[in-house]
Amino acid sequence: MSKLLINGGRPLHGEVYISGCKNSAVALIPAALLVDGSCTIENIPNISDVIILLDIIKCMGGSFTYIDKNTVTIDTTNISDHRAIFNCMKKLRASYYMLGALLGRFGKAEIDFPGGCDFGFRPMDQHIKGFEAMGAKIDVEHGIINATSEGLTGAHIYLDVVSVGATINLMLAAVKAEGITTIENAAKEPHIVDVANFLNAMGANIRGAGTDIIKIKGVEKLIGGNVHCIIPDQIETGTFMIATAATKGDVTIGNIIPKHVESLTAKLLEMNVGVEQGEDSIRVYNKGPINKANIKTLPYPGFPTDLHPQMAVLLCMAEGVSTITEGVWDLRFQYVDELKRMGANIKVEGRIAVIEGGKKITGAKIRAMDLRAGAALVIAALAAEGQSEISGVNYINRGYENLDKKFASLGADIVTVNDNE
Ligand code: EPZ
Repeated sequence: MSKLLINGGRPLHGEVYISGCKNSAVALIPAALLVDGSCTIENIPNISDVIILLDIIKCMGGSFTYIDKNTVTIDTTNISDHRAIFNCMKKLRASYYMLGALLGRFGKAEIDFPGGCDFGFRPMDQHIKGFEAMGAKIDVEHGIINATSEGLTGAHIYLDVVSVGATINLMLAAVKAEGITTIENAAKEPHIVDVANFLNAMGANIRGAGTDIIKIKGVEKLIGGNVHCIIPDQIETGTFMIATAATKGDVTIGNIIPKHVESLTAKLLEMNVGVEQGEDSIRVYNKGPINKANIKTLPYPGFPTDLHPQMAVLLCMAEGVSTITEGVWDLRFQYVDELKRMGANIKVEGRIAVIEGGKKITGAKIRAMDLRAGAALVIAALAAEGQSEISGVNYINRGYENLDKKFASLGADIVTVNDNE
């Protein structure tokens, strides 16, 4: 195991370039199961979730070749088994996409129950409701999800909850189903559009991705040989924007799509943080005291839940009392106790964090409890007075490529060391 050692209090300066979107990459790799032949994915982030999913493809009889550190060619030609039963499936939530992809390819699937960050109960009822509407029979026994069908047929599915995972999973199952599938109340995150573009480039017929109604007309086959470049990670982008504001720095964040972080940009401007948008970059800089704010996390294009913990750190430095209302996950507050060890004054009432700003944040020994909580603790340690030790770095490495090196390139005093404790 490793940990991060950070000496805080140094404003971040310079330029940083964002990696490919984790939540797109973890859907595209299972989606490769739908292709006859191989496909190449560029700008794929070098993170543990990607490595686990590529290993699962290999264990199933497929193969992958890294062209360079961020370009991989995946060939699923030789996969003939509809099962993905491996312990590593429990290491991440996105393994649930194997269900939609295997159903889409074989009309049947058996997968291990997915895992992932613990935000409380993470149901799959909307995924299952959609698969059943398309003619699948789903059983859950001994921690295995078993899906069978006589071949999937198009259906009209109205999601009771806006769900990224269910939207993508049902899209994967529908691309080769008989007839037309309509997904209403679909999620609109940028990575949903990215997955649809990947599939359409190989012959799928998906219309409306990025809106709340997606129509998929089933096709016979998807033709391999395509090269797809993953969109930049909007959550990593936001993480660096918030870190720059929290350390009162001046950083230009490159290789991004500014529109994908509009809700954060608007909020930072409200808080008196300097933000200048370029074509494919954004500059964040300190303009003086930070105003308090009230935030509610919502599905895209609302303020993203995956930036909630990071924003809580910035609000600790704002003047006055701010609130964050968590609109997506029950247990998104695992970062709170760790920030309190650094001097933060945060009270959680139901799904609302009440944050009293203006408190001095000091370095401490802290632990990442989930991916984005880990990113928040890094930001807090960078802004804090004194040294911090952050354990649970494995969570951070799930979703951020070279986070320590990227921050060090901006002048942060941050190193990864072995955690012998
Ligand atoms: C995806 O999780 C992301 N993970 C999460 O990012 C992100 O927080 C979340 O979407 C929301 O944007 C991946 O893409 C791998 P949901 P997912 O289905 O698909 C409820 C990160 O840090 N729901 O959109 O699991 C659910 O309980 C991770 O990168 C049902 O009720 O999220 C939640 O309240 C953390 N039934 C809400 O919908 C279902 O069948 C949104 O969940 C499915 C979901």
